[in-house]
Amino acid sequence: MIDLPGLFLTFEGVDGGGKSSQMRLLVDRLRALGHTVVINIEPGGTRIGKQIRSILLEAANHDLSPTSELLLFFASRAQAIDEVILPALRAGHIVVSDRFTDSTMVYQGYGRNLGPDTVRHLDRIACRGLKPALTLCLDMDVEAGLARARARNTEGGATETRLDDESLVFHHKVREAYHILATEEPNRIQLIDASRTIEEVAANIWQLVEPLINRLPRS
Ligand code: TYD
Repeated sequence: MIDLPGLFLTFEGVDGGGKSSQMRLLVDRLRALGHTVVINIEPGGTRIGKQIRSILLEAANHDLSPTSELLLFFASRAQAIDEVILPALRAGHIVVSDRFTDSTMVYQGYGRNLGPDTVRHLDRIACRGLKPALTLCLDMDVEAGLARARARNTEGGATETRLDDESLVFHHKVREAYHILATEEPNRIQLIDASRTIEEVAANIWQLVEPLINRLPRS
């Protein structure tokens, strides 16, 4: 485990759990208090990462093999760690990442049956001991989440990505895997009931984050 002066927070969860909105609310609140917050988005987050993201999410790439997919997620992450995450944590900033290795664990490790050990092994190579201090996992019913994500895509004119196309069974496996991870690491991974109102969920997240930020510098 790397010990750095900054604070590393991650958001996780099934599709449609309101992750992006909650992340925005948290970042705004932290910035209003004078903290420097750096955002990372996975896959993506860097110039190279965005190129990798387009391969990963392109709906036409049905022929992307599971192992190739796994390595590409870690390639994007390794780039973000070197370029964005470590420099910010060394400078004492807060880094908030939209997904991180837990996503790879649940989607590729469990969802695609590549296995937790394979993901752990690659995490050691790509992340070199970097772990979030706190992971906020927005948890909700899979069907309700997917319906929300589809409605959002239609309204916003966004197209379905390759992973949005996955079966219901796959998404159920993903949710169950998040529950397994939360049981394995109860201090780091907090399951948050995302079926509540935006305000209730945000209040719950703030309760968990506030105790961690007091030692950090403010501008
Ligand atoms: P994105 O459009 O960013 O969706 P979301 O708002 O749900 O994060 O798509 C990211 C997709 O990639 C999402 O379905 C989860 C998946 N994913 C993995 O399968 N493995 C990973 O390691 C990561 C980071 C994401």
